[in-house]
Amino acid sequence: MSPFRLGRRVSQMVIYGNEKMESYHRYIFITILPVILFPILSGVTGRSVYNWIAYDSIDVVMDKLVTVNEENCRSKPKEELQLPASTVSQRPVYNMLLTSVIFSNRSNLLHLHNMALNRAFYFSYMYQKLNRSVDFSTQPGIMYLYMSTTADVTGSEGFINGSAIFFDNNCFYPNFYSLLDFNRTVPLFGPRAWRADDYDESTNWLREPTNNTVDIHDYSAGELSNYTSPDYKMNNWYSMWMPDLSPSQDSLRKFTYTVGLKYSNETGKFIKDEFESDAFFGPPQPGQNDDISLPVEWTVPYFDCGRSNRWIVSASSPVVEYMPRYSDFVQLRRPRFVAVITQDIEFERIDINPCPVSEGNNDPNYFAGTARCKPTTMCEPLQGWGFRRGGYQCVCQPGYYYPWWHDGPFQGLEIEQATQDEYENGFNCYPVDYQQVIPNEMPTWVTRRKRSTYPVTTKDRFLAEAVPSDSSPRVKLVAKRALDQKDMKARLRKRRFIARYPGETKKIRHKRDLFDQEMRQRMENILIRKYKTNGGNCASKPAYQLFLPGDAAYGVEKAFEAQGRTALRLAHFLCDFLQNVDEYETFGNLKGDRRLNETHLFGEVLANVMSDFKVMGSGVFFDRYKFRMSPPLNNTDPRFINGITREFFGPYAWKYKNVNSDGLSNYRAEDFAGHKDYYIDKYWFRRMKSRWQTNFSALKKYTAKPMIRSDENGTSLVRFEHYPLTYLAPTYEHGEWLRPEFKCDPTKLKYEDWVSTYVVPFFGRNDLKTHLEFKGVVTVEVKLDYLDINQCPGEFFEANGFKNTARCNYQSSYRGSYKCECRQGYEYPFNDLAWYFDGQTMEEEYDKMMRGEPNRYDTLKCRIAGASSLYGSWLLVTVSAIILMFWH
Ligand SMILES: *[C@@H]1O[C@H](CO)[C@@H](O)[C@H](O)[C@H]1NC(C)=O
Ligand SMILES: *[C@@H]1O[C@H](CO)[C@@H](O)[C@H](O)[C@H]1NC(C)=O
Ligand SMILES: *[C@@H]1O[C@H](CO)[C@@H](O)[C@H](O)[C@H]1NC(C)=O
Ligand SMILES: *[C@@H]1O[C@H](CO)[C@@H](O)[C@H](O)[C@H]1NC(C)=O
Ligand SMILES: *[C@@H]1O[C@H](CO)[C@@H](O)[C@H](O)[C@H]1NC(C)=O
Ligand SMILES: *[C@@H]1O[C@H](CO)[C@@H](O)[C@H](O)[C@H]1NC(C)=O
Ligand SMILES: *[C@@H]1O[C@H](CO)[C@@H](O)[C@H](O)[C@H]1NC(C)=O
Ligand SMILES: *[C@@H]1O[C@H](CO)[C@@H](O)[C@H](O)[C@H]1NC(C)=O
Ligand SMILES: *[C@@H]1O[C@H](CO)[C@@H](O)[C@H](O)[C@H]1NC(C)=O
Repeated sequence: MSPFRLGRRVSQMVIYGNEKMESYHRYIFITILPVILFPILSGVTGRSVYNWIAYDSIDVVMDKLVTVNEENCRSKPKEELQLPASTVSQRPVYNMLLTSVIFSNRSNLLHLHNMALNRAFYFSYMYQKLNRSVDFSTQPGIMYLYMSTTADVTGSEGFINGSAIFFDNNCFYPNFYSLLDFNRTVPLFGPRAWRADDYDESTNWLREPTNNTVDIHDYSAGELSNYTSPDYKMNNWYSMWMPDLSPSQDSLRKFTYTVGLKYSNETGKFIKDEFESDAFFGPPQPGQNDDISLPVEWTVPYFDCGRSNRWIVSASSPVVEYMPRYSDFVQLRRPRFVAVITQDIEFERIDINPCPVSEGNNDPNYFAGTARCKPTTMCEPLQGWGFRRGGYQCVCQPGYYYPWWHDGPFQGLEIEQATQDEYENGFNCYPVDYQQVIPNEMPTWVTRRKRSTYPVTTKDRFLAEAVPSDSSPRVKLVAKRALDQKDMKARLRKRRFIARYPGETKKIRHKRDLFDQEMRQRMENILIRKYKTNGGNCASKPAYQLFLPGDAAYGVEKAFEAQGRTALRLAHFLCDFLQNVDEYETFGNLKGDRRLNETHLFGEVLANVMSDFKVMGSGVFFDRYKFRMSPPLNNTDPRFINGITREFFGPYAWKYKNVNSDGLSNYRAEDFAGHKDYYIDKYWFRRMKSRWQTNFSALKKYTAKPMIRSDENGTSLVRFEHYPLTYLAPTYEHGEWLRPEFKCDPTKLKYEDWVSTYVVPFFGRNDLKTHLEFKGVVTVEVKLDYLDINQCPGEFFEANGFKNTARCNYQSSYRGSYKCECRQGYEYPFNDLAWYFDGQTMEEEYDKMMRGEPNRYDTLKCRIAGASSLYGSWLLVTVSAIILMFWH
């Protein structure tokens, strides 16, 4: 049961109570008017003031959520533990990622999608690449699997709360039981990491969840362990892929990926100068035909009964392997889905769209139309609200403006808390009276809108504006001030000023909002440098021209957070592994993990690049003599007793666009150790190293609690020998986004493009296992073109190279990223079904003006709103005053 949901209900009830009392007093006061006695009586005796809020689909889902809890979920049928699929609309779909816009309200789902794919690529590659029996001990061991899922969770705080790999029946060959033959499988294996709520732990004296603790359980051990069984209630992800027993669909549902690899065995040299091609089967790729097999499927929201006890949604993707892996009967082998990766997010964290079905909201959407915008307004969903009421705002329809006493859109939360009276009389926009028509498209006449199109009378409108019935203190204050003032027009210009940070004054705001010619010039120079640099000419340019200033990538840490966290995940995994795994350990007949092998890290960086279309390159760069690998199998060479230490090791994978005739595909990877210029001398490596070489106090401590199977059959779940495991690791903020750079490669073996790079360090124990040391960095390169620029005015401390460069009229409008909207008290004067000036029009007209051509730049301004109608209403003030006096 979520305390969050409960709390909200209670606070709403308190509000209901107060409002009821208030309106009751109001009613008593008015009962001196016998004329309206009857309706009031019926009001008191009959309905609550909140009866206007009808039971809707949000209530349906809310009721379902609160009837299930951890005590009763076991006795409920599967249907009651699930919500309809349309409660999560606009799920990212693999074959639409490149062609459609994924809005930021879906960026957490997109990251979930990409991480599921990432792990599916990784394990498919690993199990096929290391398929010989001599590689058996090199394969990821038990702690590798546990730590990989842990890192998925800790590295993606705010995105991912659960991560798992569930193997199908008899598909997992464990390499950690010394008594088991290498060709023996175990019935099931399913380690799953979940972010634990650690508020009641003895070490947590704040009694708040730290978000840093992860439980990892093997779901195939203990009771209720057969997650492949149809009776298991929480395994929607299973039937999407498995059991995969018949080969008939193999050509459709499995896809061969080819990667090119180049290894180095000593500093400055590659073993071979050419790329070796490596092919492996992976998750499906949607084909041209009707039968579209997607590599990632979504489950419906379900209650994770007996496990996390939360309502969650999972993204799932399959791991492919040749099965049976070790068999003399090669002809029996076929690529088969052996495991499914799941990545979970809480249902509550997924934004819903309560607006009516429209363009941009046309998927099946269970919550469509639950917003309560009035007909004069339009609904816009708000971001970051998750599953909650009020996640929308109502903006004026084209041709309407906000009442002067209300600044900006009506918030959904205010509407949902309004009384019936407030709702019926408020939250309306007013029509713009004299609308102009844009001269280019139609003859230049000025149309006049008929007053009669407005539903209420002028008197109503006046009363609504001058004496708003909304009882909130803010409106009261504004209304009082308004009545005090003599001149309505002057009042219109005196807008309320709300400082956005302490010390902000109107003057500062005004200066801030001014168009900045210097910035504009600078922006043009930046854009020219960006567009004029390409693969053809970059080699001839001086090095400084291959960079843009850092403030040209303003907002990158927010826009590319998911990509940065992909690198952070790998850093977390390496921190966990290098701080906790001791390659000499065995626990009875359970073998501990051995050291990392190069193949593991090649697989990790390849998976980073293959799973996210925005990521152009990704690498792991070890510091000098910090990469220790396991000694080769059956090692007799005394030099290698303690493992091999390589001077450099820097696997780096990238997207390689042009598919060559040599059959090497879009993805390549090489070991940077083979290059003559050392990567440890690059500025990004040196900077990270000098920051993190000696001082680790800023690192955050993560706790992992591994529970493992007691024996190979998974009879019960027991604690791992080391319980809990802790490790120190960087957070997202400890990494650094470098300034945009053009990656130039004269050899034409890599992609060439503008990217922004995220660099994050990782740490391990030193050779004596006494203290922590800096081991190296993980990087990820993201294509700069996916970053939106923001030309709006910004505060003086914002490092935005493009701020204050949009062409809006500053007195009357402020800007969304591409539009100039009218400020409060101003209205949009044109009759063209818009309510803002489009940024592109502004730019065009401005350029025309600069060239001395005929233009209408000067007309692209908002005008003071509603002045004429308010002026005409003075008569009504007098009339109503007389009526009131007469009544008393
Ligand atoms: C390992 O997999 C490769 C393809 O990835 C295949 O060509 C090879 O025969 C396999 N080797 C064994 C021993 O199964
Ligand atoms: C890493 O794994 C590969 C493939 O099994 C193997 O050939 C290589 O020797 C391993 N490296 C070490 C240092 O064990
Ligand atoms: C596993 O390998 C051993 C010998 O290497 C063989 O005797 C046994 O039959 C194999 N088991 C299976 C299940 O293939
Ligand atoms: C844990 O995560 C929740 C939700 O993402 C957040 O509100 C809270 O502040 C986090 N707690 C800490 C200690 O960071
Ligand atoms: C799990 O259930 C499935 C389907 O009922 C069955 O085929 C399989 O043998 C079971 N696995 C185990 C380990 O009991
Ligand atoms: C690296 O590989 C090359 C080619 O196989 C070989 O000649 C060389 O001796 C190797 N170097 C080391 C240090 O093993
Ligand atoms: C993850 O779990 C924390 C703590 O239970 C919760 O506050 C947060 O909302 C969850 N985040 C996601 C993305 O599911
Ligand atoms: C996300 O935001 C976009 C743009 O505002 C909107 O079109 C879309 O409907 C929103 N989706 C959801 C589920 O809120
Ligand atoms: C696991 O199950 C197999 C088959 O039922 C049995 O032969 C074996 O003894 C069991 N292992 C343990 C450790 O109980």
